[in-house]
Amino acid sequence: MKIFVDTAKIEEIRKAKDWGLIDGVTTNPTLLSQSGKPWKEAALEILAEVPDLPVSLEVIDTTAQGMIKEARELSKLGKNVVIKIPFTTEGLKAVKVLSQEGIKTNVTLVFSSLQALVAGKLGATYVSPFLGRLDDIGHDGILLIEEIMRIYENFGIETEVIAASIRHVDHVRRCALIGVDIATIPFKVIEQMLKHPLTDIGLSKFIDDAKKAGIQIL
Ligand code: G3P
Repeated sequence: MKIFVDTAKIEEIRKAKDWGLIDGVTTNPTLLSQSGKPWKEAALEILAEVPDLPVSLEVIDTTAQGMIKEARELSKLGKNVVIKIPFTTEGLKAVKVLSQEGIKTNVTLVFSSLQALVAGKLGATYVSPFLGRLDDIGHDGILLIEEIMRIYENFGIETEVIAASIRHVDHVRRCALIGVDIATIPFKVIEQMLKHPLTDIGLSKFIDDAKKAGIQIL
């Protein structure tokens, strides 16, 4: 499973990159607004930090023509830009045109397997089902992701599934169990994935015992 970090904060991206953990970055207007920088400055900094990894930047126009224009401009910011397009009828028109132009797209705000089927048929590079927001309203987000994976397998659709709106480590575990292509994970959840109290307790005992036994390797 590829791991993307779902943030626009450069310090978080740098840390996750230093841990050797990330395969891509996803942002959205909300995350960019939390970066503490003007959006373009934040976007350029991210693109330069991970020049070989896909970075999703989202359009804000709501018309197909407007989204296409924005997508073409955003694409000029770096060769690793992926254009995030909301799942609307206008967005779908834009995805079709951009796919034909060879611009990578990530169809976002996906909440049903049929939306994902359509995005895949139109040639989206990635599709982003929001599992946490579905859980919030009493649905099963993981079930949605399982359905999308199955439908894509049924029809040989090559669009990669990005499990998005991940809230906690158990979401990540369940995504891995069902074999989702990519999980885009908030930085704090990545940190939690690396921590286990029994590891800390175990290490502290090993170090104490090594001292008591006078073990010195170098
Ligand atoms: O990348 C978009 C998605 O992950 C948003 O998550 O937490 O705002 O539902 P959230």
